[in-house]
Amino acid sequence: MSKNQVLVTGGTGYIGSHTVVELQNQGYEVVIVDDLSNSEIEVVDRIEKITGRRPFFEELNLVNESGVEALFEKYPNIGSVIHFAAFKAVGESVNEPLKYYQNNICSLINLLNSMKKHKVANMVFSSSCTVYGQPEDLPVTESAKVQPAESPYGNTKQICEEILRDTVKAFSEIKAIALRYFNPVGAHSSALIGELPKGVPQNLVPFITQTAIGLREQLSVFGDDYNTPDGSAIRDYIHVVDLAKAHIIAAERLLENKNEEGYEFFNLGTGTGSSVLEVINAFEKVNDIPVNYKIVDRREGDVEQIWADTTIANEILGWKAESGIDIMMESAWKWEQAIRKGNA
Ligand code: WQD
Repeated sequence: MSKNQVLVTGGTGYIGSHTVVELQNQGYEVVIVDDLSNSEIEVVDRIEKITGRRPFFEELNLVNESGVEALFEKYPNIGSVIHFAAFKAVGESVNEPLKYYQNNICSLINLLNSMKKHKVANMVFSSSCTVYGQPEDLPVTESAKVQPAESPYGNTKQICEEILRDTVKAFSEIKAIALRYFNPVGAHSSALIGELPKGVPQNLVPFITQTAIGLREQLSVFGDDYNTPDGSAIRDYIHVVDLAKAHIIAAERLLENKNEEGYEFFNLGTGTGSSVLEVINAFEKVNDIPVNYKIVDRREGDVEQIWADTTIANEILGWKAESGIDIMMESAWKWEQAIRKGNA
């Protein structure tokens, strides 16, 4: 039995859907499992429209242990798992910690138990730069201290990485790679898939595009009194397609048994920091459209500045982000316009 199928949990979500497209482009057969709590089933149709191939789809919340077991029974050809499915709103996690701990941690445990039982060896895990908090040194490397998490969401990512580390140590038949994302933005060039935030966007770029298109009155810039060149906070924004491509490389590293350490983790950023005001200016310039914004107080829990040292990912994975901030802003705007025209 050739276990050549890839199970993508959260595969109708923002990063998950872009990863399914890249997997199919590389010839992989994909099974998506998603509870549709933060995405739409129509994304499966749009993935098929982009790649010409329809992934399998199963609606399931991975906290359902017997449901996860039944999934692996139904798809015996799954050889790798790319695990995106998790609740990810930092602010919401502060008000709903138990929901976040149960969903994000129990899902991973159920997956790992079934992987062990069904001899599925490879797990690529969606982690986050939030594990670093505010790094002491910049750019931040993978050997930087993991700081106490600023939110239950960030803590679930840290706990999940520890679960992976201990599982891989105990069971040699399971190997895992955690990918620590910086700030994913932008959309597929087809403008058929992209970020679909429900309600008022928490993240910067969807708020920019919704303000530019007139859906939001005004963007609030959370603070211009940071110790940065223009006073606004700095992040490492990375194009979602560059991020998606890294997942395929990580999965293949595991499939080809190239990972010397059982458990590995990599920073996925561009290595370049951009301030909030620089992002706004880039958006306005490349799309030739103004963004109405005002400076307000800092947002609770924000770090001042963080951007990635990507040397390890470049050298070990052989992966490097290709798109700069202009392409990110151009694709984000094209996606926003497509949504509002109803053809996405
Ligand atoms: C970016 C910058 C805000 C909104 C989050 C998650 C993190 C990861 C990436 C999942 C900050 C400023 C924002 C707005 C603003 N996701 N901002 N006005 O907080 O860096 O990281 O996404 O793994 O876990 O925390 O991203 O887009 O919310 O903020 O000024 O309306 O934009 O203060 O400086 P963040 P963000």
